[in-house]
Amino acid sequence: MPWKTLDDMDFARKRALVRVDINVPVEDGEVTDTTRIDRIIPTVEDIRAKGGKVILMAHFGRPKGQVVPEMSLEIIAPAVADALGLPVTWVNSDYGDAVAEMTDDEVLLLENLRFNPGEEKNDEAFAKRLASLGDIYVNDAFSAAHRAHASTEAIAHLLPSCAGRLMAEELRALEKALGTPDRPVMAVVGGAKVSTKLDLLGNLVGKVDHLVIGGGMANTFLAAQGIDVGKSLCEHDLADTARDILAKAEAAGCEIVLPRDIVVAREFKEHAEGQTVAPDACPADAMILDAGPETVAYINQVMEAAKTLVWNGPLGAFEIAPFDAATNAAASHAAALSKAGSLISVAGGGDTVAALNKAGAADDFTYISTAGGAFLEWMEGKTLPGIAALG
Ligand code: 3PG
Repeated sequence: MPWKTLDDMDFARKRALVRVDINVPVEDGEVTDTTRIDRIIPTVEDIRAKGGKVILMAHFGRPKGQVVPEMSLEIIAPAVADALGLPVTWVNSDYGDAVAEMTDDEVLLLENLRFNPGEEKNDEAFAKRLASLGDIYVNDAFSAAHRAHASTEAIAHLLPSCAGRLMAEELRALEKALGTPDRPVMAVVGGAKVSTKLDLLGNLVGKVDHLVIGGGMANTFLAAQGIDVGKSLCEHDLADTARDILAKAEAAGCEIVLPRDIVVAREFKEHAEGQTVAPDACPADAMILDAGPETVAYINQVMEAAKTLVWNGPLGAFEIAPFDAATNAAASHAAALSKAGSLISVAGGGDTVAALNKAGAADDFTYISTAGGAFLEWMEGKTLPGIAALG
Protein backbone atom coordinates (compact mmCIF):
# COMPACT_ATOMS: atom_id res chain seq x y z
CA MET A 1 0.00 0.00 0.00
CA PRO A 2 1.36 3.47 -0.84
CA TRP A 3 0.04 4.92 2.43
CA LYS A 4 1.04 4.28 6.02
CA THR A 5 -1.21 2.47 8.48
CA LEU A 6 -1.48 2.58 12.27
CA ASP A 7 1.27 -0.05 12.40
CA ASP A 8 3.78 2.41 10.93
CA MET A 9 3.26 5.12 13.55
CA ASP A 10 4.46 5.59 17.12
CA PHE A 11 1.45 6.82 19.10
CA ALA A 12 3.05 6.64 22.57
CA ARG A 13 2.13 9.83 24.49
CA LYS A 14 0.93 11.41 21.23
CA ARG A 15 -2.40 13.02 20.40
CA ALA A 16 -3.95 11.47 17.29
CA LEU A 17 -6.38 13.57 15.28
CA VAL A 18 -8.64 10.96 13.78
CA ARG A 19 -10.96 11.96 10.90
CA VAL A 20 -13.98 9.68 11.08
CA ASP A 21 -17.31 9.59 9.27
CA ILE A 22 -20.07 9.42 11.84
CA ASN A 23 -22.58 11.08 9.55
CA VAL A 24 -25.37 8.79 10.76
CA PRO A 25 -29.16 8.94 10.52
CA VAL A 26 -30.82 10.61 13.52
CA GLU A 27 -34.52 10.76 14.36
CA ASP A 28 -35.89 12.71 17.32
CA GLY A 29 -32.37 13.16 18.66
CA GLU A 30 -31.61 9.41 18.57
CA VAL A 31 -29.13 7.68 16.27
CA THR A 32 -31.14 5.11 14.28
CA ASP A 33 -28.24 3.24 12.65
CA THR A 34 -24.87 3.01 14.42
CA THR A 35 -23.01 1.11 11.67
CA ARG A 36 -20.61 3.94 10.86
CA ILE A 37 -19.92 4.55 14.55
CA ASP A 38 -19.32 0.86 15.25
CA ARG A 39 -16.84 0.61 12.39
CA ILE A 40 -14.45 3.23 13.91
CA ILE A 41 -13.98 1.22 17.12
CA PRO A 42 -10.88 -0.79 16.00
CA THR A 43 -8.97 2.38 15.12
CA VAL A 44 -9.76 4.15 18.39
CA GLU A 45 -8.94 1.07 20.46
CA ASP A 46 -5.72 0.45 18.58
CA ILE A 47 -4.38 3.99 19.00
CA ARG A 48 -5.23 3.92 22.70
CA ALA A 49 -3.59 0.51 23.10
CA LYS A 50 -0.44 1.99 21.54
CA GLY A 51 -0.44 4.72 24.20
CA GLY A 52 -2.01 7.52 22.17
CA LYS A 53 -4.87 9.89 22.93
CA VAL A 54 -7.72 10.16 20.45
CA ILE A 55 -9.35 13.37 19.20
CA LEU A 56 -12.17 12.59 16.79
CA MET A 57 -12.97 15.01 13.96
CA ALA A 58 -16.10 14.62 11.85
CA HIS A 59 -18.90 16.29 9.93
CA PHE A 60 -22.63 15.82 10.34
CA GLY A 61 -25.06 16.82 7.60
CA ARG A 62 -24.49 19.79 5.31
CA PRO A 63 -24.63 22.97 7.44
CA LYS A 64 -22.68 24.88 4.77
CA GLY A 65 -20.34 26.84 7.02
CA GLN A 66 -23.06 27.92 9.47
CA VAL A 67 -23.79 26.81 13.02
CA VAL A 68 -26.95 24.71 12.78
CA PRO A 69 -27.88 23.39 16.24
CA GLU A 70 -29.66 20.27 14.90
CA MET A 71 -26.38 19.31 13.23
CA SER A 72 -24.25 19.59 16.34
CA LEU A 73 -22.11 16.53 17.03
CA GLU A 74 -23.11 16.91 20.67
CA ILE A 75 -26.19 14.90 19.60
CA ILE A 76 -24.04 11.99 18.39
CA ALA A 77 -21.50 12.00 21.25
CA PRO A 78 -23.51 9.67 23.56
CA ALA A 79 -23.82 7.04 20.81
CA VAL A 80 -20.04 7.23 20.23
CA ALA A 81 -19.42 6.84 23.97
CA ASP A 82 -21.74 3.80 24.08
CA ALA A 83 -20.00 2.17 21.13
CA LEU A 84 -16.52 2.80 22.51
CA GLY A 85 -17.40 2.10 26.14
CA LEU A 86 -15.43 5.24 27.05
CA PRO A 87 -16.25 8.77 28.14
CA VAL A 88 -16.50 10.94 25.03
CA THR A 89 -16.20 14.67 25.62
CA TRP A 90 -17.80 16.86 22.98
CA VAL A 91 -15.76 20.02 22.36
CA ASN A 92 -17.41 23.14 20.94
CA SER A 93 -15.97 24.98 17.96
CA ASP A 94 -13.67 27.14 20.13
CA TYR A 95 -11.73 23.95 21.00
CA GLY A 96 -10.28 26.06 23.86
CA ASP A 97 -8.50 24.26 26.66
CA ALA A 98 -10.26 20.93 26.23
CA VAL A 99 -7.44 19.52 24.14
CA ALA A 100 -4.64 20.68 26.44
CA GLU A 101 -6.50 19.32 29.43
CA MET A 102 -7.66 15.99 28.03
CA THR A 103 -7.01 12.98 30.22
CA ASP A 104 -5.84 9.51 29.21
CA ASP A 105 -9.29 8.11 29.94
CA GLU A 106 -11.33 10.23 27.60
CA VAL A 107 -11.82 10.60 23.88
CA LEU A 108 -12.57 14.06 22.51
CA LEU A 109 -15.08 14.71 19.75
CA LEU A 110 -14.71 18.10 18.06
CA GLU A 111 -17.83 19.99 16.99
CA ASN A 112 -19.10 19.49 13.43
CA LEU A 113 -16.22 20.66 11.26
CA ARG A 114 -18.62 21.94 8.60
CA PHE A 115 -19.79 24.70 10.99
CA ASN A 116 -16.52 26.36 9.95
CA PRO A 117 -16.59 27.66 6.33
CA GLY A 118 -12.91 26.73 6.02
CA GLU A 119 -13.66 23.00 6.15
CA GLU A 120 -15.37 22.59 2.78
CA LYS A 121 -13.03 25.17 1.18
CA ASN A 122 -10.06 22.97 2.07
CA ASP A 123 -8.74 26.10 3.74
CA GLU A 124 -5.10 25.99 4.79
CA ALA A 125 -5.62 28.21 7.84
CA PHE A 126 -8.43 25.99 9.19
CA ALA A 127 -6.36 22.88 8.48
CA LYS A 128 -3.46 24.45 10.42
CA ARG A 129 -5.74 25.21 13.34
CA LEU A 130 -6.89 21.58 13.41
CA ALA A 131 -3.34 20.29 12.97
CA SER A 132 -2.18 22.36 15.96
CA LEU A 133 -4.43 20.23 18.19
CA GLY A 134 -2.55 16.97 17.59
CA ASP A 135 0.70 15.22 16.66
CA ILE A 136 -0.43 12.58 14.14
CA TYR A 137 -3.26 12.66 11.59
CA VAL A 138 -5.25 9.47 10.98
CA ASN A 139 -7.85 9.32 8.22
CA ASP A 140 -10.43 6.63 8.92
CA ALA A 141 -13.20 8.19 6.83
CA PHE A 142 -13.18 6.40 3.46
CA SER A 143 -16.78 7.51 2.98
CA ALA A 144 -15.71 11.19 3.09
CA ALA A 145 -12.52 10.69 1.06
CA HIS A 146 -14.15 11.93 -2.15
CA ARG A 147 -14.27 15.40 -0.56
CA ALA A 148 -11.17 17.62 -0.70
CA HIS A 149 -11.84 19.31 2.63
CA ALA A 150 -9.52 20.77 5.28
CA SER A 151 -9.92 17.70 7.52
CA THR A 152 -9.58 15.15 4.72
CA GLU A 153 -7.03 16.73 2.40
CA ALA A 154 -5.12 19.85 3.56
CA ILE A 155 -4.40 18.52 7.03
CA ALA A 156 -2.75 15.37 5.65
CA HIS A 157 0.06 17.57 4.33
CA LEU A 158 0.65 19.20 7.71
CA LEU A 159 1.17 16.25 10.08
CA PRO A 160 2.63 12.75 9.89
CA SER A 161 -0.36 10.92 8.40
CA CYS A 162 -1.73 7.42 8.03
CA ALA A 163 -4.87 5.44 7.22
CA GLY A 164 -6.96 4.07 10.07
CA ARG A 165 -8.12 0.45 10.27
CA LEU A 166 -11.47 1.05 8.58
CA MET A 167 -9.91 3.08 5.79
CA ALA A 168 -7.29 0.38 5.18
CA GLU A 169 -9.96 -2.35 5.25
CA GLU A 170 -12.17 -0.47 2.74
CA LEU A 171 -9.24 0.09 0.39
CA ARG A 172 -8.14 -3.54 0.56
CA ALA A 173 -11.66 -4.82 -0.15
CA LEU A 174 -12.20 -2.42 -3.03
CA GLU A 175 -8.82 -3.13 -4.58
CA LYS A 176 -9.61 -6.85 -4.42
CA ALA A 177 -12.96 -6.25 -6.12
CA LEU A 178 -11.99 -4.04 -9.05
CA GLY A 179 -8.24 -3.38 -8.98
CA THR A 180 -6.96 -6.95 -9.24
CA PRO A 181 -10.11 -9.09 -9.09
CA ASP A 182 -10.42 -12.83 -9.48
CA ARG A 183 -12.25 -13.33 -12.80
CA PRO A 184 -14.88 -13.56 -14.12
CA VAL A 185 -15.98 -10.36 -12.43
CA MET A 186 -19.52 -9.04 -12.61
CA ALA A 187 -21.12 -5.79 -11.53
CA VAL A 188 -24.74 -5.17 -10.65
CA VAL A 189 -25.68 -1.53 -11.10
CA GLY A 190 -29.20 -0.41 -10.38
CA GLY A 191 -31.02 2.67 -9.28
CA ALA A 192 -33.33 5.20 -10.79
CA LYS A 193 -31.30 7.25 -13.21
CA VAL A 194 -28.64 6.61 -15.83
CA SER A 195 -27.70 10.30 -15.63
CA THR A 196 -26.27 9.85 -12.11
CA LYS A 197 -24.25 6.79 -13.09
CA LEU A 198 -22.85 7.58 -16.53
CA ASP A 199 -19.21 7.71 -15.45
CA LEU A 200 -19.75 4.57 -13.45
CA LEU A 201 -21.13 2.55 -16.36
CA GLY A 202 -18.46 3.94 -18.69
CA ASN A 203 -15.69 2.81 -16.34
CA LEU A 204 -17.19 -0.59 -15.53
CA VAL A 205 -17.63 -1.79 -19.11
CA GLY A 206 -13.85 -1.67 -19.47
CA LYS A 207 -13.25 -3.56 -16.24
CA VAL A 208 -15.89 -6.25 -15.73
CA ASP A 209 -16.92 -9.29 -17.73
CA HIS A 210 -20.67 -8.95 -17.06
CA LEU A 211 -22.58 -5.79 -16.21
CA VAL A 212 -26.14 -6.21 -14.97
CA ILE A 213 -28.18 -3.03 -15.36
CA GLY A 214 -31.33 -2.87 -13.27
CA GLY A 215 -33.86 -0.50 -11.76
CA GLY A 216 -35.11 2.57 -13.61
CA MET A 217 -31.79 2.75 -15.45
CA ALA A 218 -32.61 -0.42 -17.34
CA ASN A 219 -35.72 1.26 -18.79
CA THR A 220 -33.55 3.88 -20.49
CA PHE A 221 -31.50 1.09 -22.09
CA LEU A 222 -34.64 -0.76 -23.23
CA ALA A 223 -36.08 2.46 -24.69
CA ALA A 224 -32.76 3.13 -26.46
CA GLN A 225 -33.30 -0.17 -28.29
CA GLY A 226 -36.65 1.04 -29.57
CA ILE A 227 -38.79 -0.64 -26.89
CA ASP A 228 -41.90 1.20 -25.64
CA VAL A 229 -41.60 1.41 -21.85
CA GLY A 230 -45.06 2.95 -21.26
CA LYS A 231 -45.16 5.24 -18.23
CA SER A 232 -41.94 3.88 -16.76
CA LEU A 233 -39.28 6.12 -15.28
CA CYS A 234 -37.04 6.68 -18.30
CA GLU A 235 -34.52 9.26 -19.49
CA HIS A 236 -35.40 9.31 -23.16
CA ASP A 237 -32.87 12.09 -23.81
CA LEU A 238 -30.09 9.67 -22.86
CA ALA A 239 -30.88 7.14 -25.58
CA ASP A 240 -27.71 7.99 -27.53
CA THR A 241 -25.61 7.74 -24.39
CA ALA A 242 -27.12 4.34 -23.58
CA ARG A 243 -26.35 3.14 -27.10
CA ASP A 244 -22.76 4.40 -26.75
CA ILE A 245 -22.36 2.42 -23.54
CA LEU A 246 -23.72 -0.72 -25.22
CA ALA A 247 -21.26 -0.26 -28.10
CA LYS A 248 -18.36 0.38 -25.75
CA ALA A 249 -19.26 -2.77 -23.82
CA GLU A 250 -19.37 -4.86 -26.95
CA ALA A 251 -15.97 -3.58 -28.03
CA ALA A 252 -14.54 -4.38 -24.60
CA GLY A 253 -16.05 -7.88 -24.49
CA CYS A 254 -18.30 -6.99 -21.55
CA GLU A 255 -21.73 -8.63 -21.55
CA ILE A 256 -24.51 -6.18 -20.66
CA VAL A 257 -27.36 -7.97 -18.91
CA LEU A 258 -30.70 -6.18 -19.30
CA PRO A 259 -34.09 -7.44 -18.08
CA ARG A 260 -35.29 -10.55 -19.93
CA ASP A 261 -38.72 -10.16 -18.39
CA ILE A 262 -40.26 -7.28 -16.45
CA VAL A 263 -42.82 -6.76 -13.70
CA VAL A 264 -45.25 -3.98 -14.57
CA ALA A 265 -47.96 -2.24 -12.57
CA ARG A 266 -50.35 0.63 -13.07
CA GLU A 267 -49.67 2.25 -9.71
CA PHE A 268 -46.47 3.00 -7.81
CA LYS A 269 -47.56 1.77 -4.42
CA GLU A 270 -47.09 -1.10 -2.00
CA HIS A 271 -48.93 -4.25 -3.08
CA ALA A 272 -50.08 -2.72 -6.36
CA GLU A 273 -51.14 -5.48 -8.71
CA GLY A 274 -48.12 -6.56 -10.75
CA GLN A 275 -47.83 -8.61 -13.92
CA THR A 276 -44.78 -10.29 -15.41
CA VAL A 277 -44.40 -9.74 -19.15
CA ALA A 278 -41.73 -9.73 -21.86
CA PRO A 279 -39.48 -6.63 -21.93
CA ASP A 280 -41.23 -5.30 -25.03
CA ALA A 281 -44.74 -5.82 -23.66
CA CYS A 282 -45.15 -3.02 -21.12
CA PRO A 283 -48.71 -1.67 -21.57
CA ALA A 284 -48.88 2.02 -22.49
CA ASP A 285 -50.58 2.90 -19.18
CA ALA A 286 -48.25 0.82 -16.96
CA MET A 287 -44.74 1.19 -15.58
CA ILE A 288 -41.87 -1.23 -15.08
CA LEU A 289 -41.20 -1.66 -11.35
CA ASP A 290 -39.00 -4.75 -11.19
CA ALA A 291 -37.12 -7.38 -13.16
CA GLY A 292 -38.92 -10.70 -13.54
CA PRO A 293 -37.97 -14.24 -12.45
CA GLU A 294 -36.37 -15.18 -15.78
CA THR A 295 -34.00 -12.21 -15.41
CA VAL A 296 -33.16 -13.21 -11.86
CA ALA A 297 -32.50 -16.81 -12.93
CA TYR A 298 -30.05 -15.54 -15.54
CA ILE A 299 -28.33 -13.13 -13.14
CA ASN A 300 -27.95 -15.98 -10.65
CA GLN A 301 -26.49 -18.22 -13.35
CA VAL A 302 -23.89 -15.58 -14.23
CA MET A 303 -23.16 -15.17 -10.52
CA GLU A 304 -22.50 -18.89 -10.12
CA ALA A 305 -19.73 -18.74 -12.70
CA ALA A 306 -18.36 -15.43 -11.39
CA LYS A 307 -15.55 -15.15 -8.84
CA THR A 308 -16.09 -11.49 -7.95
CA LEU A 309 -19.20 -9.32 -7.67
CA VAL A 310 -19.47 -5.57 -7.14
CA TRP A 311 -22.97 -4.33 -6.36
CA ASN A 312 -24.38 -0.82 -6.39
CA GLY A 313 -28.08 -0.04 -6.56
CA PRO A 314 -31.30 -2.06 -6.39
CA LEU A 315 -32.77 -3.99 -9.35
CA GLY A 316 -36.31 -2.68 -8.87
CA ALA A 317 -38.50 -0.49 -6.66
CA PHE A 318 -37.16 -2.30 -3.59
CA GLU A 319 -38.88 0.05 -1.11
CA ILE A 320 -42.32 -1.27 -2.06
CA ALA A 321 -43.22 -4.98 -1.95
CA PRO A 322 -43.62 -7.02 -4.07
CA PHE A 323 -41.33 -5.01 -6.36
CA ASP A 324 -38.36 -5.87 -4.15
CA ALA A 325 -38.48 -9.49 -5.36
CA ALA A 326 -35.65 -9.37 -7.93
CA THR A 327 -33.34 -7.43 -5.61
CA ASN A 328 -34.07 -9.81 -2.73
CA ALA A 329 -33.62 -12.96 -4.78
CA ALA A 330 -30.37 -11.92 -6.46
CA ALA A 331 -28.96 -10.50 -3.21
CA SER A 332 -29.80 -13.70 -1.33
CA HIS A 333 -28.10 -15.77 -4.00
CA ALA A 334 -24.99 -13.58 -3.85
CA ALA A 335 -24.99 -13.91 -0.07
CA ALA A 336 -25.28 -17.72 -0.25
CA LEU A 337 -22.45 -18.02 -2.79
CA SER A 338 -20.27 -15.70 -0.71
CA LYS A 339 -20.98 -17.70 2.42
CA ALA A 340 -20.08 -20.89 0.58
CA GLY A 341 -16.77 -19.26 -0.42
CA SER A 342 -17.19 -19.29 -4.21
CA LEU A 343 -17.81 -15.56 -4.65
CA ILE A 344 -16.14 -12.40 -3.36
CA SER A 345 -18.95 -9.87 -3.05
CA VAL A 346 -18.50 -6.19 -2.35
CA ALA A 347 -21.38 -3.74 -2.06
CA GLY A 348 -21.73 -0.08 -1.26
CA GLY A 349 -23.55 3.14 -1.95
CA GLY A 350 -26.60 4.86 -0.46
CA ASP A 351 -29.67 2.71 -1.16
CA THR A 352 -27.66 -0.43 -1.74
CA VAL A 353 -26.88 -1.28 1.85
CA ALA A 354 -30.50 -0.55 2.84
CA ALA A 355 -31.68 -2.89 0.06
CA LEU A 356 -29.27 -5.66 1.07
CA ASN A 357 -30.22 -5.29 4.72
CA LYS A 358 -33.89 -5.49 3.78
CA ALA A 359 -33.14 -8.67 1.82
CA GLY A 360 -31.37 -10.11 4.88
CA ALA A 361 -28.30 -10.59 2.67
CA ALA A 362 -25.87 -7.97 3.95
CA ASP A 363 -24.28 -10.08 6.69
CA ASP A 364 -23.07 -12.74 4.26
CA PHE A 365 -21.60 -10.36 1.67
CA THR A 366 -17.81 -10.46 1.76
CA TYR A 367 -17.58 -6.73 2.32
CA ILE A 368 -20.10 -3.95 2.80
CA SER A 369 -18.64 -0.49 2.37
CA THR A 370 -19.75 2.29 4.69
CA ALA A 371 -19.52 4.73 1.80
CA GLY A 372 -22.19 6.27 -0.41
CA GLY A 373 -20.80 8.90 -2.79
CA ALA A 374 -17.19 7.83 -2.20
CA PHE A 375 -17.99 4.23 -3.21
CA LEU A 376 -19.55 5.50 -6.44
CA GLU A 377 -16.60 7.75 -7.25
CA TRP A 378 -14.21 4.93 -6.57
CA MET A 379 -16.23 2.65 -8.90
CA GLU A 380 -16.06 5.43 -11.49
CA GLY A 381 -12.28 5.07 -11.38
CA LYS A 382 -11.73 8.53 -9.89
CA THR A 383 -8.89 9.46 -7.59
CA LEU A 384 -10.29 10.26 -4.15
CA PRO A 385 -8.51 13.36 -2.75
CA GLY A 386 -8.59 12.11 0.84
CA ILE A 387 -6.71 8.98 -0.21
CA ALA A 388 -4.32 10.71 -2.61
CA ALA A 389 -3.29 13.06 0.24
CA LEU A 390 -2.22 10.09 2.36
CA GLY A 391 0.15 8.79 -0.31
C1 3PG B 1 -21.83 10.37 3.27
O1 3PG B 1 -22.80 10.34 4.03
O2 3PG B 1 -21.81 9.77 2.16
C2 3PG B 1 -20.58 11.05 3.73
O3 3PG B 1 -20.64 11.34 5.08
C3 3PG B 1 -20.29 12.28 2.91
O4 3PG B 1 -21.27 13.25 3.12
P1 3PG B 1 -21.47 14.44 2.07
O5 3PG B 1 -22.07 13.85 0.83
O6 3PG B 1 -22.36 15.44 2.75
O7 3PG B 1 -20.09 15.01 1.78
